[in-house]
Amino acid sequence: MAEETVTPHRTKKISPNPRPFAYRNGTLHCDQADLSSLAAEHGTPLYVYSAQHILQRFRLFQQSFATRPATICYAVKANSSLTILRLLAEQGAGFDIVSGGELARVAKAHKAALKKAVFSGVGKQAWEIDAALQANILLFNVESEAELHLLAARAEALGKRARFALRVNPDVFADTHPYISTGLSEHKFGIDINAARAIYRRAAKSRWLQCAGVSVHIGSQIRKVAPFGAALARVTTLIAELRNDGHTIRYVDAGGGLGIDYGPRSSTSAVFDPARQVQKYAAALNGSLGVEPAHLLLEPGRFLVAQAGALLTRVLYVKKNGSKTFVITDAGMNDLIRPALYHAHHEIMPVRQPAKLKLPGTEVDVVGPVCESGDFFARDRALPAVKPGDLVLLLDAGAYGMSQTSNYNTRPRPAEVLVEGAAARLIRRRETMRDLLSPELLS
Ligand code: LLP
Repeated sequence: MAEETVTPHRTKKISPNPRPFAYRNGTLHCDQADLSSLAAEHGTPLYVYSAQHILQRFRLFQQSFATRPATICYAVKANSSLTILRLLAEQGAGFDIVSGGELARVAKAHKAALKKAVFSGVGKQAWEIDAALQANILLFNVESEAELHLLAARAEALGKRARFALRVNPDVFADTHPYISTGLSEHKFGIDINAARAIYRRAAKSRWLQCAGVSVHIGSQIRKVAPFGAALARVTTLIAELRNDGHTIRYVDAGGGLGIDYGPRSSTSAVFDPARQVQKYAAALNGSLGVEPAHLLLEPGRFLVAQAGALLTRVLYVKKNGSKTFVITDAGMNDLIRPALYHAHHEIMPVRQPAKLKLPGTEVDVVGPVCESGDFFARDRALPAVKPGDLVLLLDAGAYGMSQTSNYNTRPRPAEVLVEGAAARLIRRRETMRDLLSPELLS
């Protein structure tokens, strides 16, 4: 049977599905894998990812930046699964890490990729810097002069030279959720771009520091490409000044942040075209870089993995309170915190294909079992009718889903499955109660 998408009001032209999830024979599949079989085999809540989709997104990036020397340093924080890191490393990806823990993950997934790792973050500690120096990573993205002093001291102690870029704050506004915007001078991130030159000058006096580049990152889930271009234009100007000052700038790190479309597909809204989006992004960056010869580093996270993944959950109860109907699922805010934290929208699809005539169904709140009113996935959402035992899928959860889980309410984290064509591989087993309780010391 032909693939069908869930669009309630079908457009005349069937648009490409920006997600690997679609109905086949009445059941939602991830590529060729049946989600109800995956739930039966591995239980719920379950994160499901399409390997093919991740690789496609990675290739889109590679192709769009093929005109200049560039390395895609996947932002590990978006989804730090060892299997996904290895999958990307095998395609030539480098990594953007922000902790000693993420460094350890890259080392375990694909040791050789450490030489393509960049280390960002405002609060690097000595032990993390030491581990990154020992691993001979590509670049430290330094976020303050104090951090630069610590980096020099640790490099001297270990007898190594540290390649660094200053992460500059370009004071560019990007329209996104305030929690994930980083490029304004009021944010804690980066170094005021106007102060950078003097710091590079002072850094040049240390034989333990090797100036290697400039980096910038203005925030996440940014849908318009103009702010990326504006930030990089400022960085390109700075690079020219730094070269004039006698510094060697081999790398320009443009950060991450390219957004996706979390919204529903309808006949009125233009369908999100990821290929076109990366092309526009590349055009904006290339337009600002011009003939700048530095090697371009990119740090996409969400764009590569968000739409490849979804959270599969089972309905436990459907209950009414006054005028409201609540669909209570076995996944909660500890399994996917984005709606609670950012009021983020995630599309929800029933795994059994609803009869089209019944769409849209009643408006419900989809909530988890956690003891917080903030534990919701959707509010007043028109959903096809579901009943206890049914499976539903929370879409676009591949980025900042599993990586932001917790054990709140002493709930084991979900298992994770990677789909490769029709085959599905367990890449992280569900946590057990023993896993949760074992670090505690009871005397
Ligand atoms: N590089 C740096 C220095 C970053 O801080 C980030 C994300 C990235 C790259 C990757 O950005 P992306 O391409 O994924 O947008 N938890 C939030 C997102 C936080 C993003 C933090 N930094 C969410 O769920 O939306």
